[in-house]
Amino acid sequence: MEQTLVILKPDAVRRGLLGEIIARLERKGLRIAALKMARLGDEILREHYAHHAGKPFFPGLLAFMTSSPVVMMVIEGLDAVTVVRDLCGPTNCRKAPAGTIRGDYGMSQQMNLIHASDSLATARAEVARFFRAEEIHAYDRADVPVVYAADERGH
Ligand code: CMP
Repeated sequence: MEQTLVILKPDAVRRGLLGEIIARLERKGLRIAALKMARLGDEILREHYAHHAGKPFFPGLLAFMTSSPVVMMVIEGLDAVTVVRDLCGPTNCRKAPAGTIRGDYGMSQQMNLIHASDSLATARAEVARFFRAEEIHAYDRADVPVVYAADERGH
C-alpha cells in the first residue's frame, strides 16, 4: 500500500473544517497511519516549498502557512498518492470541480485547505520530512475486507 503526506493548512484549521476533511479521507477507505498538529517553522517550510522559492507568491505562502498550527497526516491506501490528489482537486479552489475538497470548501488559490504529495517519490521524502518512523502506526482497519477485493489487499 502507498503512503502519502497530507497537510491540513491554516485555513482548514481556522475554519473548523478538520473533521469534515478527515471524514472524507476516512470514508473513502484510506487509512490514517499518522496524525499530529504543529506550528510549522520557516526552515521546514522553505525546504518543503523549495520548488516555489522565488515565485511571487512565496512570501505570502510562508506567512499563510505559519499563521496557525497545521494538521499533518500520513494517509495509506492502494494508489494513495493519486487517490488523495484527486480528492483534493486542482490548486485553485475556484477552478476545482464540485465534489473535490477544494471545490466544495474553498475560494482561493493560496488558501486551498490541503496539501497532498504529488508523486510517490515526493511522498516518501515528505513523509520523512514531517514524521519520525515511530510516529507512523501499523494497524488494520476493520473494514479492509469490504473496501478491497482479496487480490487488491496485498499491494
Ligand atoms: P500546494 O499545491 O499544496 O503547494 C504550493 C502552494 O502554494 C499551493 O498549494 C498554494 O497554497 C500556494 N500557491 C500555488 N500557486 C499560487 C498562486 N499563484 N498564488 C498564491 N498561492 C499559490
